[in-house]
Amino acid sequence: MGYMGGKRIIEISNVNKSFGNQQKKTSALEDISLEIHEGEIIAILGESGCGKSTLLNIIGGFEEADKGDVIFDGVRVAGPNRKCVMLFQDYGLLPWRTVLKNVELGLEGLKLSSSERREKALHYLQLVGLANKENLFPAELSGGMKQRVGIARALALQPELILLDEPFAALDTFNRYHLQNELLRIQSQEKTTMILVTHDIDEAIYLSDRIFIMEANPGRIFKELKIDLAKPRDRSHSEFQYYRKIIFDVFHLSRREIPIEFNI
Ligand SMILES: Nc1ncnc2c1ncn2[C@@H]1O[C@H](COP(=O)(O)OP(=O)(O)OP(=O)(O)O)[C@@H](O)[C@H]1O
Ligand SMILES: [Mg+2]
Repeated sequence: MGYMGGKRIIEISNVNKSFGNQQKKTSALEDISLEIHEGEIIAILGESGCGKSTLLNIIGGFEEADKGDVIFDGVRVAGPNRKCVMLFQDYGLLPWRTVLKNVELGLEGLKLSSSERREKALHYLQLVGLANKENLFPAELSGGMKQRVGIARALALQPELILLDEPFAALDTFNRYHLQNELLRIQSQEKTTMILVTHDIDEAIYLSDRIFIMEANPGRIFKELKIDLAKPRDRSHSEFQYYRKIIFDVFHLSRREIPIEFNI
C-alpha cells in the first residue's frame, strides 16, 4: 500500500475516540487504521467536525485514544515526543519574544550553548526566507511571515514528523500558494515526514503523496487516494483536475451536501 520509499514511521491500528457521555456521545473517530512511511506527505481531508484534529492530536500524543494504538518509530505513543512537532493555524508565537527568540524557544530544553542555539535558529529562519527579520516582534509581521516563523521553529527541532493542522487556512491565496511551495522545497531538502490536516482540496492534491478522505459522524476514513504526479505540480494541468474530479465525486457519492468550504 502507498509509498514504497521509506520505512513505516507511523502505524495506526483500530483507533477509536468518542467525546461526551452515554446520553450524548460523539464518535469523533471510529476504527481508524493507516500506515505512513518515512518522507511522505500525507493529507487528511474532510469537512468540519469529521475528526481531523482529534486524529492529529492522538498521533502527536496530545490526546489519548479510547481504543487502538499509534506506533511512532516502533514505539507506542503514550504522550508528546520530541521527534514529533505540531504546527498550528494560529502560529502559537509568543508576542513578547523576537522572531529569533521564538525560534530558539523549542531549543531551550536541549543541551546547546547560546551561540549554537542562535546559529541553529538563524539557519532555519534563513531556510524559510526570514533571514533579515530575526529582531522583529510577531506583531510586526504579516500572517505569512508569522507562519514561516512557526515553520522555522518546528524545523529547528529537526523532528522526524511534523503535524500540520490547517497551517495555511488563515492566509490569503497568494501567501498560501507561496508557503505551500516553500514547504515543498524545504521538505525535499529535509525529508521530514508530514501529516497535514486540511479542508482545502487543492492544497491536499498540491502537497501530498497520499490523501485520506474522512467522513463525519462517526469520523471514519472512507477513501485513500495516491497522488501519482511529480512535484512541483501544476494546478492548472488536466491531471490535477483529474484528482479534483475524483475527490469531488467521492464527496458527491457520499450523498451528503458538499460543504461550501470545499470550494469546488
Ligand atoms: N474536547 C472535546 N470535547 C468534546 N467534543 C469534542 C472535543 N474535541 C472534539 N470534539 C468533537 O469531536 C468531533 C471531531 O472534532 P475535530 O476537532 O477532530 O474535528 P475537525 O475535523 O478537526 O474539524 P474542523 O475542520 O472544524 O477543525 C466534533 O464533533 C467535535 O465537536
Ligand atoms: Mg480541526
